[in-house]
Amino acid sequence: MSRVYNFSAGPAVLPEEVLKEAADEMLDYKGSGMSVMEMSHRSKAYDTIIKEAEADLRELMNIPDNYKVLFLQGGASLQFAMIPMNLMKNRKAAYIVTGQWAKKAFQEAKIYGDAVEVASSADETFSYIPDCSDLAIPEDADYVYICENNTIYGTKFKTLPNTKGHTLVADVSSCFLSEPVDVSQYGVIYGGVQKNIGPAGVVIVIIREDLITDDTLPGTPAMLKYKIHADAQSLYNTPPAYGIYICGKVFKWIKKMGGLSAMKEYNEKKAEILYRFLDESKLFKGTVRKEDRSLMNVPFVTGSEELDAKFVKEAKEAGFENLKGHRSVGGMRASIYNAMPIEGVEKLVAFMREFEKNNG
Ligand SMILES: Cc1ncc(COP(=O)(O)O)c(C=O)c1O
Repeated sequence: MSRVYNFSAGPAVLPEEVLKEAADEMLDYKGSGMSVMEMSHRSKAYDTIIKEAEADLRELMNIPDNYKVLFLQGGASLQFAMIPMNLMKNRKAAYIVTGQWAKKAFQEAKIYGDAVEVASSADETFSYIPDCSDLAIPEDADYVYICENNTIYGTKFKTLPNTKGHTLVADVSSCFLSEPVDVSQYGVIYGGVQKNIGPAGVVIVIIREDLITDDTLPGTPAMLKYKIHADAQSLYNTPPAYGIYICGKVFKWIKKMGGLSAMKEYNEKKAEILYRFLDESKLFKGTVRKEDRSLMNVPFVTGSEELDAKFVKEAKEAGFENLKGHRSVGGMRASIYNAMPIEGVEKLVAFMREFEKNNG
């Protein structure tokens, strides 16, 4: 067996010990004689799995009691619609557009009401986070929306926007559990798990209880109402049961690693190795304004499309997978999520150094 260093933006690298544990339990989960994949989601064994997953996540993120944790489906993209359907009481919301995922959420919200773009970094290909300290947020906006870590462009909000008292909604798909957060600053935090937490197919929504109401937009299907899922503790219908089980294992792995502060320290160390090299290199350049750099997604270029392609090809041959930038921006991107070991980043930088020597 040989494993590569997988720099994919998602689905992405998971902790090896979680994969091994899941493999060990594949045929017979703790004496049940069956796989978790084959198990009723109403069984005693599964009840323990989902309850423990929620309890561990609550502990890791220090989630206050007045927030619900929902394990849902539909990808992060379905939240682009669920958020307005459930939260747009005044049919108005403010969107900060810092990349394609924020833009998609913004465009989806326009179907349901008056979505207003209050800030954007489109003028410089989303390579920075705009100043959000004093935005013109409409008085009657139901919420302010951000994509906290922009997977494609490699930017991250280092300070949350001043929402002027409005509810903050954040897509944290690509920075979930990468560092400590103050959940009480948000109305809704949500993300697809396929980057930092588990297999694609699970979306986690952490939502303040007062935002969960029956007062949804007309025509909202039952499956898209937060209240339906909250009342049923994420078991309204069959949940993505196996995916939640793997998420639960990753929560335990993060706890064992020392929790979110330790995760942040480790992630900073990894990112620093790569950014320091990019700042020194004569060939490779980071594409993001320094103060807005993401710890998770690191885009870079050589300045020549030909050399970029050569680098991606040779890196792949050397065991560094998925370094090609998003199809919309080109260049390279190394996603260095929680489960990417520090050796992976060190070896990548050594490889980049060598490439620079041979192609400089
Ligand atoms: C920040 C962010 N939001 C949303 C999405 C869309 O996620 P999904 O494919 O789960 O709908 C992605 C996917 O990569 C993402 O990076």
